[in-house]
Amino acid sequence: MASTIKFILLSLTLCVLHLNFCHGQNAVKAGYWFPDSGIEISDIDSTLFTHLFCAFADLDSQSNKVTISSSNAGPFSQFTKTVQLKNPSVKTLLSIGGGSSNRTAFASMASQPTSRKSFINSSIKLARANSFHGLDLDWEYPQSASEMKNLGSLLDEWRAAVATEAKNSGKPQLILTAAVSFASKVDGLYQYPIPSVSRSLDWINLMAYDFYAPDRPSTSTRCHAALKDPSGQASGSSGIADWENAGVGAKKLVLGIPFYGYAWRLVKANNHGILAPANGAAGPDNGVKRYQDIRTFVAQTPGAVVVYNSTYVCNYCYAGTTWIGYDDNQTISTKVSYAKQNGLLGYFAWHIGADNNFALSRQGQLLTSFQDKQFPV
Ligand SMILES: *[C@@H]1O[C@H](CO)[C@@H](O)[C@H](O)[C@H]1NC(C)=O
Ligand SMILES: *[C@@H]1O[C@H](CO)[C@@H](O)[C@H](O)[C@H]1NC(C)=O
Ligand SMILES: *[C@@H]1O[C@H](CO)[C@@H](O)[C@H](O)[C@H]1NC(C)=O
Ligand SMILES: *[C@@H]1O[C@H](CO)[C@@H](O)[C@H](O)[C@H]1NC(C)=O
Repeated sequence: MASTIKFILLSLTLCVLHLNFCHGQNAVKAGYWFPDSGIEISDIDSTLFTHLFCAFADLDSQSNKVTISSSNAGPFSQFTKTVQLKNPSVKTLLSIGGGSSNRTAFASMASQPTSRKSFINSSIKLARANSFHGLDLDWEYPQSASEMKNLGSLLDEWRAAVATEAKNSGKPQLILTAAVSFASKVDGLYQYPIPSVSRSLDWINLMAYDFYAPDRPSTSTRCHAALKDPSGQASGSSGIADWENAGVGAKKLVLGIPFYGYAWRLVKANNHGILAPANGAAGPDNGVKRYQDIRTFVAQTPGAVVVYNSTYVCNYCYAGTTWIGYDDNQTISTKVSYAKQNGLLGYFAWHIGADNNFALSRQGQLLTSFQDKQFPV
């Protein structure tokens, strides 16, 4: 009995001193970085993050191996060492795929045991050779029930391989994550392989943004990453609830927060709320704007107004006929508090280079001490 108490006390002490001893994972405060995103690796304030994702490694559709393009090889190999200069405990993950990668190649790779093996084996080798602590799969998106089934096999085999490799190498197991749709079914149709996601991934990154853009719908302004939607349409909170209802615990969920917004063109300058009449994008690239550019727009445009709408949990700003829906301080604070109150593992940002001198990164980080829930009692 006494020894049990001693053990509990010891565990608690270890838990306080070294949070890794706690049950479950510590809070995740993460961000993605990619080359040409507007920030050098050495300029990332890694003290604001627990995990940094380096994006993207590629899937070779011929060999089914994971590769790093020659132009990225240098920077990626220095990523971990560089970000750990400011924060020695920050963990890094190599992210594979991305929104513009070849999803047919992922489907093909996942469909056969031998090609899955090539993917898995090469991913582990690359992660170790470049000193990453983990791997992140960003397959956007599996498009059928059979692709989802194959994804499940891939995740389970990946976890088994990572466990074996850790045993053989004596190193800590690589972290395994995936960036997934905000809800548990892609396009409301294809259900992710829930048991495999739960047992084989450390967590999933919910891409809770891009619900709307000026080309969909073009006729009214929308918040592209609202936490709530009073009419029950896509929102961050509905996605979280959906994943939980599907059977993935809150402790596996990491909420995605965009450091960018979309600019719509208002039909009338004096009608400027959410759902105001619009006619498409204001500006190139379907109106995409980085947070730092939105702050510049607000600072430099006479009469620009910033609004926080707590019904949707969304910021927007407008001036003349330009209307931009995005995440500013209030939105981020509310989302991070929501994630914490609902027992989520944490949050991640897409992407660090779009921030304005780390204002948003700091805003999220300020609020978090997710750890309170992690004590093993
Ligand atoms: C995408 O992958 C498929 C399947 O592996 C392959 O046939 C196709 O050539 C790839 N497309 C491009 C543009 O690389
Ligand atoms: C990859 O495959 C080779 C050859 O089968 C094997 O020697 C090596 O241990 C594997 N590496 C990993 C990380 O699984
Ligand atoms: C948020 O915007 C909606 C739609 O324009 C509006 O009905 C609602 O009153 C706004 N909420 C707040 C708190 O202003
Ligand atoms: C957002 O919060 C940060 C501090 O976390 C502050 O420096 C910045 O001025 C705030 N930005 C706005 C637009 O209120």
